[in-house]
Amino acid sequence: MASATKEAPRKGAKEAMKDTLLTPRFYTTDFDEMEQLFNTEINKKLNMAEFEALVAEFKADYNQTHFVRNPEFKAAADKITGPMRKIFVEFLERSCTAEFSGFLLYKELGRRLKKTNPVVAEIFTLMSRDEARHAGFLNKGLSDFNLALDLGFLTKARKYTFFKPQFIFYATYLSEKIGYWRYITIYRHLKANPDYQLYPIFKYFENWCQDENRHGDFFSALLKAQPQFLNDWKAKLWARFFCLSVYVTMYLNDCQRTAFYEGIGLDTKDFDMHVIIETNKTTARIFPAVLDVENPAFKEKLDELVVLNQKLIALGDSTTPAPLKTLQRLPLIAGMVSGILSLYLMTPVESGSLDCVDFEPQVVY
Ligand SMILES: [Fe+2]
Ligand SMILES: [Fe+2]
Repeated sequence: MASATKEAPRKGAKEAMKDTLLTPRFYTTDFDEMEQLFNTEINKKLNMAEFEALVAEFKADYNQTHFVRNPEFKAAADKITGPMRKIFVEFLERSCTAEFSGFLLYKELGRRLKKTNPVVAEIFTLMSRDEARHAGFLNKGLSDFNLALDLGFLTKARKYTFFKPQFIFYATYLSEKIGYWRYITIYRHLKANPDYQLYPIFKYFENWCQDENRHGDFFSALLKAQPQFLNDWKAKLWARFFCLSVYVTMYLNDCQRTAFYEGIGLDTKDFDMHVIIETNKTTARIFPAVLDVENPAFKEKLDELVVLNQKLIALGDSTTPAPLKTLQRLPLIAGMVSGILSLYLMTPVESGSLDCVDFEPQVVY
């Protein structure tokens, strides 16, 4: 864990959001172990032909000229007023932080793996190029609202969460695939309902999400090259754990921001369940076990967590004296822990097959 510095953000920049369990995280890992995993002398399972094909895909840089702004952005931002303006800013800020977090991790991996495995290293570097582009585009969006995130400050001031390589693979695979499904779902919805197209950034999501999809496919290839992370009972438990944390975090986050989703004409819970179900189907192609998210009990339990989380937030905002707050918080936290545990213990879906997941460069819709 890196420690937070006391430096202040650049003048005129927006202060970073309050750090909570649900804010987008920055990750770091054991780079020495990563080097071992990608050493072709040690790991004979590395299918370098597949990685060569992937690097060619990334070098093709399909979105090189995609992220070009136009005067529509500022004009649209000026029309977003009242509470919606604040909600929009928060959406841009959270998305920018999440994209930037990917940029930092991939850039460092690209740097650290250069000697051991130049091909894999290059893919990481090219993925960091994509994420920098995404974060930059979102940050320019913030400038339409007369704000900007000081990304240099964010790099130094944020806490970094340490994950072993195995967990980095699960977490990044899931976040890329869930990112793909979020972007494409919003894009398709707004294409069908143009009245809700409040801000032009969503029009870019169609090509944008193809970047996330490619990133996810790369992690799928990485996982295939590390069968020890996929083929035993421990891997199954971890796979379910990561699916659950990613789904629960998104559901709780989004249910706190229903105004945003409703503002663009979506029902938050329907949107989230669609994204969870589709991500879970994609994930089942590689993870050895996934959650039974289509079981109605799954959504019921998620909704119970939302209620408890809302009570926790309301308590935090209330004027109740601090010691009493702590006491009142305990049963709510206990309720959330048992809710999450019962979701985890639901009968899982056995999945994954190391033989049938082949990388095919393609556009997915
Ligand atoms: Fe991205
Ligand atoms: Fe990505």
